[in-house]
Amino acid sequence: MAETTATPAPQGERKKIIFSGIQPTGVFTLGNYIGAVRHWGPLQEQYRCIYSVVDLHSITVRQDPAVLRKRTLEAYALLMACGMDPEKSILFIQSHNPHHTECSWVLNCSTQFGELSRMTQFKDKAARYADNINAGLFTYPVLMAADILLYQTDLVPVGEDQRQHVEITRDIAGRFNGAYGTTFTMPEALISRAEEGARIMSLQDPTKKMSKSDPNPKGCVSILDEPGVIIKKFRSAVTDSDAQVVYAPGKDGINNLMRIYAAFTGKSLEAIQEEFAGKGYGDFKTAVGEAVVQGLAPIQARYKELMDDKAYLETCYRQGAQQAMRLSGRTLEKVYKRVGFLHE
Ligand code: TYM
Repeated sequence: MAETTATPAPQGERKKIIFSGIQPTGVFTLGNYIGAVRHWGPLQEQYRCIYSVVDLHSITVRQDPAVLRKRTLEAYALLMACGMDPEKSILFIQSHNPHHTECSWVLNCSTQFGELSRMTQFKDKAARYADNINAGLFTYPVLMAADILLYQTDLVPVGEDQRQHVEITRDIAGRFNGAYGTTFTMPEALISRAEEGARIMSLQDPTKKMSKSDPNPKGCVSILDEPGVIIKKFRSAVTDSDAQVVYAPGKDGINNLMRIYAAFTGKSLEAIQEEFAGKGYGDFKTAVGEAVVQGLAPIQARYKELMDDKAYLETCYRQGAQQAMRLSGRTLEKVYKRVGFLHE
């Protein structure tokens, strides 16, 4: 990942803190995986990592309660299947730690209506869910700021679409620190470069972000899709008519497939261009599909094992919530003191 000045802490200094979250609104997409989740496992070796299944955020769009419950556990298991280790990191479910909503209220009072109105995601979602433009959708970034700031987070590894939310978190932290004295660490977004897949696009409309809510299911690959389904989706991916596997402006479909192939094979874009020189798009699309199937196989196998052991998952998320609360409690106490709440 790039775009940060972050370096591992020298021995003796506190390890830098990483926080990130993912919504349990469905099985993770290839976009979630390439843009964010695949980076989270390796970060555990150098940093103090805290990862959360952010169920509070997901109800800003109406959810079926039974489905949400099921998906939350599945998302937790998926995080572990993607390499998150409860022995190395704190893995918890957001609603299990009440400090997030408590801190969020205080931060709401340090956030301006105008800055929330400018959030691209709010504008997009308000247009998409015009019959339910609720206050939670509007203050969503404030809850996200609470998630991040409660843990004195240094770095937030996310995909490109979350950049604006990390920026508003910094604005809120700066304003609070300015008014009440330094309370929060100033976090930095950790976003990979475009070529590395910071924004993976729909396979059916490569000008749009790949998303669980894509109306055309062929545009979105989920990391639990069956091998045959994955191959089929890649074979029918929309590309241009130039028929050369070259990374270039205007070739949105091919550029997207090249980034996906690079993410799963570790090959550079130049090496991919050479590998497919003189070959057609058909060969390339099949190769991308096969690389994805192969890369996802161990995750799918581990996921099945974990979902067969619900008691273990329960132990892990309970322990995660305790660990999270211990850390966030220190910050929340400081926040309450700073704003002038009388000690209980
Ligand atoms: P969410 O659940 O939409 O997505 C989880 C992560 O996946 C990334 N991502 C993508 N990256 C590349 N290409 C794509 N097509 C793509 N789609 C999704 C997202 O950028 C994200 O990193 N608001 C957040 C969740 C959140 C959070 C936080 C994140 C809540 N609190 C605190 C960081 C810190 C969200 O909705 O992510």
